[in-house]
Amino acid sequence: MRLDKFLCDCSDLTRSLAGKLIRQGEVMVDGIVVKQPAFHINEGSQIEFDGAILTLDQRHRYFMLHKPQGYVCSNDDPDHPTVFFLMDEPAMGKLHVVGRLDLDTTGLVLVTDDGQWSHRITSPRHECAKTYHVWLADPVSPDAIALFAEGVLLRSETEKTRSAQLVLLGEREAQLTIHEGKYHQVKRMFAAIGNKVVGLHRECVGTLALDSALAEGEYRELTAAEVAQF
Ligand code: URA
Repeated sequence: MRLDKFLCDCSDLTRSLAGKLIRQGEVMVDGIVVKQPAFHINEGSQIEFDGAILTLDQRHRYFMLHKPQGYVCSNDDPDHPTVFFLMDEPAMGKLHVVGRLDLDTTGLVLVTDDGQWSHRITSPRHECAKTYHVWLADPVSPDAIALFAEGVLLRSETEKTRSAQLVLLGEREAQLTIHEGKYHQVKRMFAAIGNKVVGLHRECVGTLALDSALAEGEYRELTAAEVAQF
């Protein structure tokens, strides 16, 4: 592997900045300063940069986070803090959120650097279930159960939503499981039947539930068994 690529892979550096630092003599390979970004390193090479020995950890990383309101699910936002403000991990720039929640939605957010894994969760083809606890402005009629099971036509869409499972928990409270991830889907589904979502919390993605030990704003690594569920 090239030295500049190795440096990028174990840090947040861009390829051009990594190249610049190498040319400036900031990087040592096996105790010797190497100034060629294209220098070939192998598995046994010991790379030293910024006072640390770098190793290339090939394992992907997987986390669950309890998102509070007021945080956005993107890597960068000009107006609001992102969920990455809540995390303290190396090479944060390589992580991404798996399927976004709205600014005012709370609950389970998955974060990883494994694009194939997140694709299996978000791709419509895989129909991965997402379960939400929903608080509503108006009472929910039991008729909504059949309507959502059949699928509803959302505003500015041409096809009905996939069958969704609604469980009524109270007059203005319900649990909804959907199998796709259209923009603002839960809010738009309730709007389609004349109601308004006033609170939304994601409880589960697939069979993976938000860990009740995580307070809002906390996160933890997924176990190997949790990762393997997808
Ligand atoms: N559906 C919504 O309307 N908002 C979310 O944040 C998630 C699903």
